[in-house]
Amino acid sequence: LLGIKDYDMMPEVNGNKIYSNLVSEPSTPDSSDSGNVVMEDGTVKVKQKLGLLSGTALIVGTMIGSGIFISPKGVIAGTGSVALSLIVWVACGMISLFGALAYAELGTLITKSGAEYAYLLEAGKSLPKTVAPVPAFLFSWVSVFVLKPSLFAVISLSFGIYVIEPFYPNCEAPDGLVKIVSVLCICMVAAVNCHSVALATRVQNFFTVAKLLAVLVIVVGGFYMMAKGHTEHIREGFDDTSRNPSTIALAFYDGLWAYDGWNNLNYATEELKNPYVNLPRAIMLGIPLVTVCYLLTNLSYLAVMSKETLLASNAVAATWGESVLGSAAVLIPIFVALSTFGAANGSCFTGGRLVYAAAREGHLPEVFSYIHIRKATPLPSLLLTTLIAILMMIPGDIFSLIDFFSFAAWLFYGGTMASVIVLRYSRPNAPRPYRVPTIIPIVVFIISVYLVVAPIIQEPRIEFLYASLFILSGLIFYIPFVGFNVNLRFLEPITTFLQCVLEVAPSKYEPP
Ligand code: ARG
Repeated sequence: LLGIKDYDMMPEVNGNKIYSNLVSEPSTPDSSDSGNVVMEDGTVKVKQKLGLLSGTALIVGTMIGSGIFISPKGVIAGTGSVALSLIVWVACGMISLFGALAYAELGTLITKSGAEYAYLLEAGKSLPKTVAPVPAFLFSWVSVFVLKPSLFAVISLSFGIYVIEPFYPNCEAPDGLVKIVSVLCICMVAAVNCHSVALATRVQNFFTVAKLLAVLVIVVGGFYMMAKGHTEHIREGFDDTSRNPSTIALAFYDGLWAYDGWNNLNYATEELKNPYVNLPRAIMLGIPLVTVCYLLTNLSYLAVMSKETLLASNAVAATWGESVLGSAAVLIPIFVALSTFGAANGSCFTGGRLVYAAAREGHLPEVFSYIHIRKATPLPSLLLTTLIAILMMIPGDIFSLIDFFSFAAWLFYGGTMASVIVLRYSRPNAPRPYRVPTIIPIVVFIISVYLVVAPIIQEPRIEFLYASLFILSGLIFYIPFVGFNVNLRFLEPITTFLQCVLEVAPSKYEPP
């Protein structure tokens, strides 16, 4: 394999051989994009490529995807009135901000990448030793194999839909074609992320600016209409407000989907420059920015259409475009395509980091924790996320998959909120550069319990049972491979092979 001969003479890290002939000269890691990042001991160093702005773009650019162009309908349907729908939009922003502030404490206390995974692992140490890693393991099991790839696939599918639909103005776009374009989007994003961290960051920044400009166009257009006196729909206020808590809960699900992604920077803490300062700052900048964008965009929609029109429209933004932009309405699908492509890039970036973090702790085959010896990209883990995302495109309805697993996401958000409190007791004196007011994780914990339990009680469908069984089935792998540490010797040649082909090597956590 690539001329590696003296296998037995090579140094080992974590019991694995390092291929020093791949690595050429050990050198100090440089800050340029490619170039050697291999350390003296043969491990590869992760680079800190993200500054405050790129960090904020990773949050904003993943949160703003397709939701704001589609969800307003669901929020109005659930709340019944204009005023309550706007309140729900702001409330969802507050819930996301509160959640993210709790993550800011965790991310500056535990500076490892992997977000929930890293925090559940640390908080789990308060449990009896044999089960301590179980919450983190089950989180990575569900996230690596379902949540992250399905988010990546769904957002790419929205991209495919918006790129293809304008070409079929009078009929439904063929499903196969939409999927081909979506898979191309997945592959392109994956290629960017595998090629270089700096390029992925630049792509993320570019698309974040593009989508903010798109939002600005919609906001300015709407406010122009308001200035011309079109405020009649907004002045309807609380007329027809729903009093049914379960439909209001549905409105929250739609709203929270548009805000999903508020935890994204925590997946890449190790790649953030000065995380102690930049993580809380990026969160405090990014999430209020998104909240303001969403509120103003909704006002703009309502300046142009009544809630009845909004409810009758399948694509709110497109309907808005037809009435305000006239012949320039073709811009809208372009906006949505830009926005979803950027969100897909952010989803791929963070999905890969989660796989990497879990593999480094021995919760996935070790090769997934390796990173490229020159580019410092987590190549095997990006490829795994991409492969699963592509497989998910094949059968059909990823949207319902997301519905049945979003309770799982809130289950783990809730668990992470509990970790804030647990760690306050188990590591009371550890430095906390940012300390969230205790009430915040408690409030978010209560909300997440509600969001987990409510859909199951409202509509107890068998799929929730399947999803729960899937989560627990992770134990089938946990017990032998982590609990009893069964060594999979047949993986060794595969690891060696992949290491040579992909030019990857182990990396270890280094505190900032
Ligand atoms: N909030 C985004 C949207 O409105 C979806 C975010 C996908 N989430 C994620 N964690 N990658 O489309």
